[in-house]
Parts: sequence; structure tokens; C-alpha cells
Amino acid sequence: MLTKRNIILRDLGDGLSMRRSSAEDADALSEFNGMIHSEDEADRLRLIAWTRDLLTRPHPTFHADDFILVEESSSGRIVSSLNLIPQTWSYEGIEFGVGRPELVGTLPEYRGRGLIRAQFEEIHKWCVARGLPVQIITGIPYFYRQFGYEMALDFVGRRFGYEANVPKLKDGEAEKYAVRPASKTDLPFISSVYDQAVQRHMVRCVRTLEIFEYEVTVQDVNAINRFETHVIESAAGEPLGYLQHSNYLGQTGLTAIWYELKPGVSWLDVTPSVIRYLWNKGQEYARRGGKECTSFGFMGGADHPVYRALGRDLPSVREPYAYQVRVPDLPGFLNHIRPALEKRLAGSIAIGHSREIKVSFYREGLRIVIENGKLTTIEEWMPSPQEEGDIAFPDRTFLQMLFGYRSYDELHAAFADCWCNTEEVRVLMNILFPKKLSDVYPIA
Ligand SMILES: CC(C)(COP(=O)(O)OP(=O)(O)OC[C@H]1O[C@@H](n2cnc3c(N)ncnc32)[C@H](O)[C@@H]1OP(=O)(O)O)[C@@H](O)C(=O)NCCC(=O)NCCS
Repeated sequence: MLTKRNIILRDLGDGLSMRRSSAEDADALSEFNGMIHSEDEADRLRLIAWTRDLLTRPHPTFHADDFILVEESSSGRIVSSLNLIPQTWSYEGIEFGVGRPELVGTLPEYRGRGLIRAQFEEIHKWCVARGLPVQIITGIPYFYRQFGYEMALDFVGRRFGYEANVPKLKDGEAEKYAVRPASKTDLPFISSVYDQAVQRHMVRCVRTLEIFEYEVTVQDVNAINRFETHVIESAAGEPLGYLQHSNYLGQTGLTAIWYELKPGVSWLDVTPSVIRYLWNKGQEYARRGGKECTSFGFMGGADHPVYRALGRDLPSVREPYAYQVRVPDLPGFLNHIRPALEKRLAGSIAIGHSREIKVSFYREGLRIVIENGKLTTIEEWMPSPQEEGDIAFPDRTFLQMLFGYRSYDELHAAFADCWCNTEEVRVLMNILFPKKLSDVYPIA
């Protein structure tokens, strides 16, 4: 059994030590996270429930020792902590491991002493050991750049409508589609609809049946990231899609985290019933919490079928924020997704092409060799004043292109030190790394 003694990772000096968590930490760590991360009392209780879930309930990918904590050796008081939630994502369908740091926090009086930096160094080692080549975090702006991250992938765009945008049923008209709570037997259907829906996206989070089961049957109903999961069905009881939303109001109303329909079902036809459901549920939550609900929304990323179905009836747009992404072994990752890159070449005007591309990141770089449309070499390469390469990206900005977040032209417009000296290379790089839609919701 893991005890506090055998999970100590490092003595940090100044009477502080860093160690891994165990289920015994559930009370102290949930109080700590509730205090550090909450905006109000309801939020605090939801953060407590989430931390307790992670430490005490069986999670598909997270174990009770996947938090790190820094504590005062004398008193045992937690002064800083974070965790790593492992998961699987895919790039054009090619799966890869992802480490997601979360619940990153330090007591105010201990901030600015490098305690988070030390814990990040540690979890980055875990990622190597566990085969998680990419790390992502949905964090505060800028901070994680200091640990090797780049803002390089869309994160949760939303659109909202208001009471005037809620379609009314005519007198005597019955609701054509029902929204009812999902049970365990609905999960294979929901998971297959999810798998179909995310084909729209270049980067996807793999949500296995086990993960849906965790969300529906294991998570504490009060956890901050728990969704109510519903099936949308026809009057005859045929399942057509699913809907997930929180069981509390956001700033102004209730937002669907997921709303997806199976292929062959009209979004125009089903969506009015879904909006009425969301609106009524939002009013119910408002009455329960003594709040006002003035909007309904969909968290569909930058683009989603429901946005097109509703058009001007979703008048408010909240553009996506960005994941901060780290790929410490870029040649390794590019070699892993090579089949996807070769498929892009094969489907392009550069089919069967051959050419070497030297990509400069100024202090390091990549050499990519294309032979008859195959990527025969992707390796580290070092630029020099004598050999500056064919295309250059400052710092880690290339990650924005790799994850389809920005095009070469957008990066070139934003950074004067992003350049390309041959049109052939610019064309090839745009084919290899096109700007493409992603809307990934991670495992929590
Ligand atoms: C953000 C937070 C986690 C930083 O914790 P910390 O223990 O002070 O972090 P570290 O000391 O390891 O910071 C590493 C570096 O970042 C700097 N830094 C600290 N907070 C920063 C911030 N908000 N933005 C930019 N840099 C910051 C530190 O000064 C330090 O710089 P140095 O290495 O040059 O000395 C802490 O302020 C906190 O708990 N905030 C409230 C909760 C929160 O916002 N968590 C993040 C959620 S994503």
C-alpha cells in the first residue's frame, strides 16, 4: 500500500517536500482545491466533489496517486498542488496519449517560489514514462508558456440565444421530439453518435464506453464537470441523438456541452424541441437556485451544425479560447502521425512529390524528406547562419500550424520572423499542415 512516506518525490528545501497523493488526501486536497479555485460557495462545493471523485471513485484513466502535492514537512499543510489526467486523443484518427495537468494551485503566501514549476518538471517525467507524448492544459493565459506550452488549439467556443429566440409551439401542437435522461443501456448509442460527430474535427478526444459510463454512473452529481446526459428521441421512441449539459446555470443560462444527432437526422427539425427543453430546464434551475436564466447556449466550438441550423437565432458568439499544448519530442510525434500527413499529400496537387524541407525554429529545427509522396525522414535538424532552412517559425509557433489552429499565412502575418523562402515549400507546408476545425472536450 502507498503511504505518505514511500511516495515522497523530492525535498524542496525551506521545510517543504513534494509527494504523490493517495486516497487518504481526499479531505485535505478537496478543501485545498475548493479554496484555491472557486469563485463562490456553490463553485467551491463542486470543486470539492470533483477532487473527491478523482481520489476516491474508480476513474477510467486517473489513479489516486496522480496528484502531486507540496506540503510543509512540519505541519503536513498542503501549500501547492496539481494533477495529471491521462487520456487518449487522435489526430485525423491516429491515436496518441495526452497528459492533462489540472487543478494547478498554490497558497497565496507561497506563490512565486517555483513550486508549480517543480511539479510540472515532475509530471512531464511521468508523461515520458507513461507514453503521453502531448500535454494540454486549459489554463490561465500565458503562464504555461514558461513550461514549454504554446496556445495552439481551439478550446470551447459557444453561441447563445435569448427568450425571443426560443421557438414557440403553436396552440395545441405537441412536442415532436422528447429529451429524456440516459441510462446505462443508452450509452453504446451515445458513444456511436459521438464517434460519428467528431469526424468533423481534426483533433479528437477518444471517449470510450467506459468513459461515458463513468460520467453517467460514477461521477458525483455535484462535481463541477459532471453533465446530465440525455437521449433525444422521436415520438415513436427512436433514439436520434444526445444532449449533455451541466446541472447548474452558467453566467446567464443553461448551455449544452454536447448536442449531437445521428447521421440522417435533420438538425432543423429536431433543434426547436432541444431549445425548448434547454430553456425550460434553465428556468427550473433558476427557480431552484433563486437566480435568473435569460439565455440558452451551445458549446459547439468555432463551428457546429446547430449554429448553422439556428443562424441568427444564436445571436451571441463567444469565440474559442485556446488549449496550451506541449510536444517535447516533435520529430517523434510527427513520425507517429506520418500516415495522416502522407494521406494529405496523396490527396493533394503534390501527389507523388519529392523534396527536402528544412524547418527552422531558430535554435533547433526539423528536416523532413518527402520521396515520391512518402515521408521517409522526419528528424531533428539544427539551423545555422550558413544554412537557415526553407521555412522558419519563432519559438513554438509551429505547433499552431501542426494542430490546424492557424495557417502559415496567419502566422506569417502575426510574426515577422515567420518566413518561407520558396513558394514550393509554402505550398507543401500548407498541404501537410492545413488549418482545420477541431473542438476537443477533454476527459476530466
Ligand atoms: C497561477 C499559480 C498556480 C502560480 O503558482 P506559483 O506557485 O506562484 O507558480 P511558480 O512560482 O511555479 O511560477 C513559475 C513562474 O511563473 C511566474 N508566475 C507566477 N504566477 C504567474 C502568472 N499568473 N502569470 C505569469 N507568470 C506567473 C512566477 O513568478 C515564476 O517565475 P520565475 O520562474 O521566473 O520565478 C498561482 O498563482 C495560483 O494558485 N493562482 C490561483 C489559481 C489559478 O489561477 N490556477 C491556475 C489555473 S489554470
